[in-house]
Amino acid sequence: MRLLILLGLLWGAAAAPGAAQWPQPVFGRLASPGFPGRYPDHQELRWALTAPPGYRLRLYFTHFHLELSYRCEYDFVKLSAGTTELATLCGWESTDTEQAPGNTTFYSPGPGLNVTFRSDYSNEKPFTGFEAFYAAEDIDECQAPPGAAPPCDHHCHNHLGGFHCSCRAGYELHQDRRTCSEHSL
Ligand SMILES: *[C@@H]1O[C@H](CO)[C@@H](O)[C@H](O)[C@H]1NC(C)=O
Ligand SMILES: *[C@@H]1O[C@H](CO)[C@@H](O)[C@H](O)[C@H]1NC(C)=O
Repeated sequence: MRLLILLGLLWGAAAAPGAAQWPQPVFGRLASPGFPGRYPDHQELRWALTAPPGYRLRLYFTHFHLELSYRCEYDFVKLSAGTTELATLCGWESTDTEQAPGNTTFYSPGPGLNVTFRSDYSNEKPFTGFEAFYAAEDIDECQAPPGAAPPCDHHCHNHLGGFHCSCRAGYELHQDRRTCSEHSL
């Protein structure tokens, strides 16, 4: 995985020589062992993906065909960040109790995303596994999640890797860089 990220960095450097190179592009491909052939039994693989600060990871599947089991307890692909489980996926299309990715695009809440693939000891039928692609993308901090306080009192300006606040005329930005207070006379 580190190699893929490194290749991504090198590619970015080669693509635009001399241009400002921050942030470097972070992207890559994940696949089950042997893809597009059948995946072997008894696998446990983890990819720890990381984006620069202020970025998140976007991931989608172009192929998904795993053994189906109740609540995906046998074979699965799990997406997690810290203690948050974003998805546990198995089968090939969603059922009442199991989720397959279909056309869903998954987003990490922050710059890190862990992807785990597991297969159990026996599959009666051949399953071809999965292929997925990921890329880092800027988090728009100005879009506060529902119920959360807006990040700025007045105006919010998103930029690559971060954001900043500004105030309406007659106000000035507090030292906390978020709050606007009236000019003292
Ligand atoms: C991914 O897993 C590793 C090892 O368990 C852990 O150290 C890391 O914090 C995890 N990353 C995220 C974003 O959860
Ligand atoms: C995914 O998108 C394709 C193309 O729009 C569509 O044909 C297919 O039915 C979609 N699959 C699911 C599971 O929604």
